[in-house]
Amino acid sequence: MVLKRTAPVSPVRPQAAGQDPPAFEQTLRPRRLQEYIGQARVKEHLLLHIQAANARGEPLGHTLLSGPPGLGKTTLAHIIAQERGVSIRITSGPVLEKPGDLASILTNLQEGETLFIDEIHRLRPVVEEMLYAAMEDYALDLVIGKGPTARSMRLDLKPFTLVGATTKAGSMSAPLRDRFLHTFKLGFYTPEEMEQIVHRSARILEVSLDPAAAQLLASASRATPRIGNRLLRAIRDFAQVRGEKRISQEHVRTTLASLDVDSDGLDATDRMLMRMLIERFDGGPVGLGTMAAMLAEEEETIEDVHEPYLLQQGYLQRTPKGRVVTKRAYEKLGLEIPEAAQAALL
Ligand code: ADE
Repeated sequence: MVLKRTAPVSPVRPQAAGQDPPAFEQTLRPRRLQEYIGQARVKEHLLLHIQAANARGEPLGHTLLSGPPGLGKTTLAHIIAQERGVSIRITSGPVLEKPGDLASILTNLQEGETLFIDEIHRLRPVVEEMLYAAMEDYALDLVIGKGPTARSMRLDLKPFTLVGATTKAGSMSAPLRDRFLHTFKLGFYTPEEMEQIVHRSARILEVSLDPAAAQLLASASRATPRIGNRLLRAIRDFAQVRGEKRISQEHVRTTLASLDVDSDGLDATDRMLMRMLIERFDGGPVGLGTMAAMLAEEEETIEDVHEPYLLQQGYLQRTPKGRVVTKRAYEKLGLEIPEAAQAALL
């Protein structure tokens, strides 16, 4: 069964201001599992289940991908469709406003197609409930009419594979989570994997990266391919304007400095967050709402974008009372650890 790749269905995700055009990410996106660098365990399991499903001629089984932004959830959804030889339809939780929005997508799915719902934890409850029967029985339960004369009608759907992506697996409802057959958690990439990824992207963009330049770029990429690729794009522009063909470590350093990103990938907001915790709250504990207000950022941005990397790198810790900085945060900012705080710090 080979279906043609089709354009994403509407409603599609709107492009937020300041984001890269989708075309840029798409050119660098690996298309097959074999080209995909990192996430070895996820890859190994996916390959096994895809091969088994292909051999049986059955759908893969609904698959949930979770993890911080930029680690490859959308890329893997495309790869799943590609490896199954089917097309993919793309939508996201927040744009499916009414049950009818989801119903029209589901009834238009071709047999075996992949439906990708990004930010699936943000589905409205009425839309989410419609998904239950669709996932479990490939059926759509429609209520026709209102009040005492209302009738319910079941409509059969063609078998499909739902791939859901979420940055917050924990905030998904249990009934939705339980309907996924496969659940994969994507983690941050190792420095070696990041180096391979930026080398691969540089090859595709037809620029040459010195080994030391790739190493610095990898370490400034927050262990996240999307960030590595965006930095590479900026670095390429700087080099091009100066008429240089080969990208040296010095080029990377200059570009990082102009973007206010340090060699460990921390940006101005990360540093401000740690400094604020130290200078205003003696290192914490501080709640998410307070941090967001102090930084004039959305709570979600702090929780999804800044915090996971700071936690993973050991600059922050979460405690039941709130977020606290570690010794490493003081060292990073070149601040003295007050004697009173020494013993308590992690
Ligand atoms: N580009 C973005 N993510 C990638 C990955 N995991 N492997 C290869 N290239 C990528």
